[in-house]
Amino acid sequence: MQKNKRLSSTDGSVQGSGCQPNNSPQPKRTLSVAPMLDWTDRHYRYMARLITRNAWLYTEMINTNAIIHGNSDKLLAYHPQEQPVALQLGGSDPAVLAQAAKIAAGYAYNEINLNCGCPSPRVQQGAFGACLMREVTLVAQCLNAMQEAVSIPVTIKHRIGLDKETAYQPLADFVGTLREQTACRIFIVHARNAWLEGLSPKDNRDIPPLRYDYVYRLKQEFPDLEIILNGGVTTNEQISQHLQYVDGVMVGREAYHNPMLMRSWDAEFYGSRQPAVEYEALVEQLIDYTQQQLAKPDHSLRHMARHYLGLMHGLQGARQWRRMLSDAALLKNNNASLIAAAWQAVKNSSPSQFSTSI
Ligand SMILES: Cc1cc2nc3c(=O)[nH]c(=O)nc-3n(C[C@H](O)[C@H](O)[C@H](O)COP(=O)(O)O)c2cc1C
Repeated sequence: MQKNKRLSSTDGSVQGSGCQPNNSPQPKRTLSVAPMLDWTDRHYRYMARLITRNAWLYTEMINTNAIIHGNSDKLLAYHPQEQPVALQLGGSDPAVLAQAAKIAAGYAYNEINLNCGCPSPRVQQGAFGACLMREVTLVAQCLNAMQEAVSIPVTIKHRIGLDKETAYQPLADFVGTLREQTACRIFIVHARNAWLEGLSPKDNRDIPPLRYDYVYRLKQEFPDLEIILNGGVTTNEQISQHLQYVDGVMVGREAYHNPMLMRSWDAEFYGSRQPAVEYEALVEQLIDYTQQQLAKPDHSLRHMARHYLGLMHGLQGARQWRRMLSDAALLKNNNASLIAAAWQAVKNSSPSQFSTSI
């Protein structure tokens, strides 16, 4: 993992003005945490990075117009320890995407990803997200404009198809055309269709059937591309299975609801010899981080603690942990000692569960 102190502002964030892209070698994209709106913000990503040093972390999708016309520091600044971190952009105007990518590269992101997989009606109104899969020429123009603007990899995240289309060939044509017409070599494929009408974004992550075989076949037919499989992965056994056929696996919801799933990733998938993080040490680091953040204006405990709720998943005391860290009256005090108290409750509920390394 890279620590890019050179790029840090006084509060430790990577800020935009005049930063050079970080060209140091990065780990492979064997594992990554998916972009998730409202979930994979910088606080979640910081916590994830304390658990795995190697997995790539993706930001929430950020709309290009927000970057260009809004407060880019607020949207793009992040902790240097998060690297490798990829920024996902939502947009469909090549010139605007290029401009946003250039601004983002100034924040030393390690990758810029174009969202071609989000089915939400709001995103469709802006004519980007999954509906872009119908417009491969425009997607190629977008990727080329972005890649001309930055020296870091520009990648794409998309579905295996749209609506009730079930054939493999349109997917292969989409990927093959982009391979021919752009320099994009990293394809993150959510292994289900997006149904653009009649399903909510949430249902669109569950109801269209998973077709992992389509993603495997892409890798077979385009061996020079880096194919990352996404969708429905919840265990490390499943990750191992998929890695027999593709270059990487991206995990979304499970990495959020059960972040300690990532605890064995460095050893199991990156060959790291460093011991996995212990719960106690992790909680201490989170308390330090939370305290530092609370010292800044406009930071509340609620914004950070919501991402910590899944940490004790599967342990005795997990319910007390969640209850305390989501209690509005307790959170209102904005005191990181609440995390220490919740941790104490977990330990008290079953001291023996921490007597051996878990
Ligand atoms: C709350 C939430 C927000 C999401 N936001 C985005 C997003 O901003 N961009 C994107 O490409 N996908 C988004 N997704 C989809 C995920 O990146 C991922 O493709 C999907 O959840 C399937 O992976 P999983 O089964 O491992 O969760 C979101 C998913 C969730 C649950």
